[in-house]
Amino acid sequence: MNAGGSRAAGPVGGADLTGRVAVVTGAGGGMGRVLVGELARAGAHVVAVARDALRTEGLLREAMGDHGGFEVVQADLSLRRGVIDAAAAISRRHPRVHVLVNNAGAHFPERRLTPDGVEMHVAVDYLAAFGLTHLLRESLVAAGGRVVHVASDSLNDTRQVRLVGRARPAGLDPAHLEDLTRLNPAGGFVAFEAYARAKLLTVTSGYDVARLLRPHGVTINSVHPGIVATGIVDDLVPAALRPVGGLIRRAMRTPRDGASAALRLATDPALAGVTGRYYRREREATTPAVSHDAAVQQRLHDVSSRWFDR
Ligand SMILES: NC(=O)c1ccc[n+]([C@@H]2O[C@H](COP(=O)([O-])OP(=O)(O)OC[C@H]3O[C@@H](n4cnc5c(N)ncnc54)[C@H](OP(=O)(O)O)[C@@H]3O)[C@@H](O)[C@H]2O)c1
Repeated sequence: MNAGGSRAAGPVGGADLTGRVAVVTGAGGGMGRVLVGELARAGAHVVAVARDALRTEGLLREAMGDHGGFEVVQADLSLRRGVIDAAAAISRRHPRVHVLVNNAGAHFPERRLTPDGVEMHVAVDYLAAFGLTHLLRESLVAAGGRVVHVASDSLNDTRQVRLVGRARPAGLDPAHLEDLTRLNPAGGFVAFEAYARAKLLTVTSGYDVARLLRPHGVTINSVHPGIVATGIVDDLVPAALRPVGGLIRRAMRTPRDGASAALRLATDPALAGVTGRYYRREREATTPAVSHDAAVQQRLHDVSSRWFDR
């Protein structure tokens, strides 16, 4: 990616993405819209993946004006079939994918299952990212692409209010990896921990798939964007703090600022070849030991690839 002298330096840092294809999930959301806009402004053709194609098309047009190149692919990424069909639609039209930002994510206050029988956080915050990366791998390899998983540092600390005590990392019972429907079980379900566990799965698989795809020139990194005033925050703010929700939001990062960390990983020429890492914003950070366990990574990869390949 060459530095494009004529472009204003936004979060993309002046990178020229002309002729590149970038896929962004969660494209209608707070950070997703910024990601699409900045990548398109830098010259990329952006495939914006969203549940409501018409609404997202309107939002993106409004935000971007005539700044060109994007198309919307409709997909409910909580569904196995939704991920498979989205990947098929993208790879049919784009044999080369240079950037994939797995940005879609959600927090669900109650435990819910998808029609496939998987807990919702597992489906949206893990399987969507794994599945698209897995099913788009040929297009990614053809382009020597970069994958960015938008994770959350809740995987390092599942306390929603961090005033006292020690960090409580997300846990993962390896026995639950026998079958994806066993992850985030009903017994002892805590919504924020379930969200954090799903992000932990994303980072764990990110390390593993990064190693597999490294020889093929594809890089995969995960990033915590910071605490950002977007739609997801309404679900995440604990009930007791909702009366002061407006004040809390004002103390948070803007979606533009939040998106900049993922954009850097997706486009910064200085990060070419950097792979298999986790960043808290711009700084590389550690994740729980279980995420580096090779046996856990292998089981997670087996069960997840079977889910999409069967
Ligand atoms: N905001 C924060 O403080 C924060 C902190 C750490 C990590 N994150 C992560 O940052 C990412 C972006 O979130 P955001 O903060 O920009 O929140 P957001 O505004 O709520 O955006 C989330 C996006 O995910 C999409 N999504 C949810 N469920 C989906 C499904 N079943 N299929 C397809 N798309 C689905 C939403 O699509 P719809 O438009 O169709 O609803 C929305 O566009 C998420 O992965 C989130 O976990 C955010």
